[in-house]
Amino acid sequence: MWTKRRVVQDLLQGRALQTARPDAEAFAPTNIALIKYWGKRDGVLNLPVTSSVSIALPSRGAWTRIRELPGCAQDEITLNGSPVEATASFAQRLSAHLDLFRPNKHTGYGVSTTINIPVAAGVASSACGFAALTFALDRLYGWGCSKSELSILARLGSGSACRSLWNGWVEWQCGDQADGRDSFAVPLAVRPWPELRIGLLLLNTGEKSLGSREAMQRTVETSPLFSDWPQQVERDLPQLKHALATQDFTLLGTVAEANADAMHACMRSARPAIEYSGASTQAAQATVRRLRQAGVPVFYTQDAGPNLKLLFLAEHAAEVQEAFASLDIVHPFKQEEFA
Ligand code: PMV
Repeated sequence: MWTKRRVVQDLLQGRALQTARPDAEAFAPTNIALIKYWGKRDGVLNLPVTSSVSIALPSRGAWTRIRELPGCAQDEITLNGSPVEATASFAQRLSAHLDLFRPNKHTGYGVSTTINIPVAAGVASSACGFAALTFALDRLYGWGCSKSELSILARLGSGSACRSLWNGWVEWQCGDQADGRDSFAVPLAVRPWPELRIGLLLLNTGEKSLGSREAMQRTVETSPLFSDWPQQVERDLPQLKHALATQDFTLLGTVAEANADAMHACMRSARPAIEYSGASTQAAQATVRRLRQAGVPVFYTQDAGPNLKLLFLAEHAAEVQEAFASLDIVHPFKQEEFA
């Protein structure tokens, strides 16, 4: 039976230095999955049932600074400049991840994170948060981990975090080993797509009611549709890769939207049903479909929250922005936007 601690010890064997640098900092971009990760084959190590593919948002993510606090039993965590109570779920998840690396129980960490996307609203704040934290730990202790190793370590904090160590298109290869050694992300070797735009449509930025961990578990255990999900991904993944290789936007959007809809259908058929869409989500989805009927190629994807991410090309940005006044448009391949 593999525990997170055993995976960490194995991976960092002979590498974890006792003396930390005074402090270290790292940035990780957030990522939006177009082929979703939904369902774990191992809930402890966050090993997925299927592979998934995402695009990074290079200008949106987490900047994390970390230092050791010797003789301090508790971590001191600040988020966007404000201290976070140790009892808050954000602090508890971070401290649980830090426990895997703590030299002893008398050492706390000072962690200061700035995240420029809403936290815990299904906009992938945990992905960039855990990736930046893991990356910063690597720098603090001078482990010299490769990106694939960091991807494995970040996955232990949050599955989707393993995709947040690169810009551009990334595939998380699900792997099949019990210790998850072969379950990490890799950048996809496809040419950049400078015309691609991602629109963040924030419809409700309050904390989500049900975390992705519980929602995934309930879906796997109770949804009669979930048995088809791996086949759905097996069909969608090669199509999406083909769309990326040929820069076929309609195919990309069609596959991504259908994949997100299928994930939510699985959740809706869970017992009790899981519904992340509010009235504003459904209205926005209808507007996207209406725009398409009117000849504007725009598609949506949706994660474990009510907000949508829209996919479109630069030439249609004005029409999409007109339909969604509050849309925050990100250029995933614009070098100047890379943090
Ligand atoms: O990494 P988690 O446990 O927050 O799960 C993320 C799941 C989705 O965002 C819904 C899909 C994905 O692949 O990012």
